Amino acid sequence: MIGNEISKAITILTQNEVVAIPTETVYGLAANALNEASVQAIFTIKKRPRTSPLIVHTYTLSQLLTFVKEIPPIGERLAKAFWPGPLTLLLEKKAIIPDIVTANRSTVAVRIPNHPLTLELLSKLPFPLAAPSANLFGYISPTTAEHVDEQLGDKIPYILDGGSSQRGLESTIIGFKEKKPVIYRLGSITQEEISSVIGFVPYLPPQKIKKGAELAPGRTLQHYSPHTPILLGNLTDLYQANKVHRLTALCFDRPLKEIPLNDQFILSPQKSLKEAAKNLFAALYYLDKKEADYIIAPLFPEEGLGRVINERLKRASATNAFS
Ligand code: TXA
Ligand code: MG
Repeated sequence: MIGNEISKAITILTQNEVVAIPTETVYGLAANALNEASVQAIFTIKKRPRTSPLIVHTYTLSQLLTFVKEIPPIGERLAKAFWPGPLTLLLEKKAIIPDIVTANRSTVAVRIPNHPLTLELLSKLPFPLAAPSANLFGYISPTTAEHVDEQLGDKIPYILDGGSSQRGLESTIIGFKEKKPVIYRLGSITQEEISSVIGFVPYLPPQKIKKGAELAPGRTLQHYSPHTPILLGNLTDLYQANKVHRLTALCFDRPLKEIPLNDQFILSPQKSLKEAAKNLFAALYYLDKKEADYIIAPLFPEEGLGRVINERLKRASATNAFS
């Protein structure tokens, strides 16, 4: 059921059940982060492997300090600059966080999301919320309540509707390696923005994972994938090379004249990368429903949000996580 009643979300979460919640990045599938059984339900509903840890959402630094050991000074500077917002920090956890949340790691991923409904919800709950994106594992992340409903509606009691996610791409994840900050996942806050606050921070790109090797969390190559295969490159060239097939197109600012308009999605007529990021996952949902042979999609200049969009598109187009 979709609705916007915070009191209803509180009742359900307090009974240790799950609720889908809006955030500025994507919708999350939330449960009491301090209760093992509630968190188990998230993994079951999403069909998510237990090796993949969750992000814990909180609303103040004081609540955060009840479940992490400390925030290093660099983490504090990042928190000041970007919270509430799409930044996730990996911090040493206290024992109160069940091991299932972190897949047995000593660190827990945390963030203060920037969405009024969810901040109000968090402020009225006596516990933080563990929440991965509210999609089936491996499929496209949801940026509207309707996306969540399509994938998980029959499995969850309530979807808190907070409208379309304003950022549209997941949070940027920063951890510490020998006390130095490292970007583990590119996200809504760009590497350039992070570096402008604390100096250059490197990004560790997902490595191709060998068959049989332990899956590093969140770093499988295939992710965010529609069912329809995606071909990436110059749209006109892709069209010419593949026109014997039925094609749909993801376009930046204007459509291709060779393909019917309703088989295309224009990310940003104004050529704004921010708008393109916000619309990216909704575009993939829309085009996937057309059930074409292929979705053709462009790559963006490799900087700022363009790089983040490219990373999501490349992962969405990787056909085999183990190849
Ligand atoms: O924007 C977001 O971050 C959204 C909203 C709902 O907050 N959440 C989200 O969650 O994208 P999810 O589960 O789809 O992605 C979380 C990522 C995964 O790649 C996971 O492996 C990584 O965070 N992660 C979580 N805890 C970790 C830890 N302790 N160490 C390393 N990676 C961790
Ligand atoms: Mg996800």
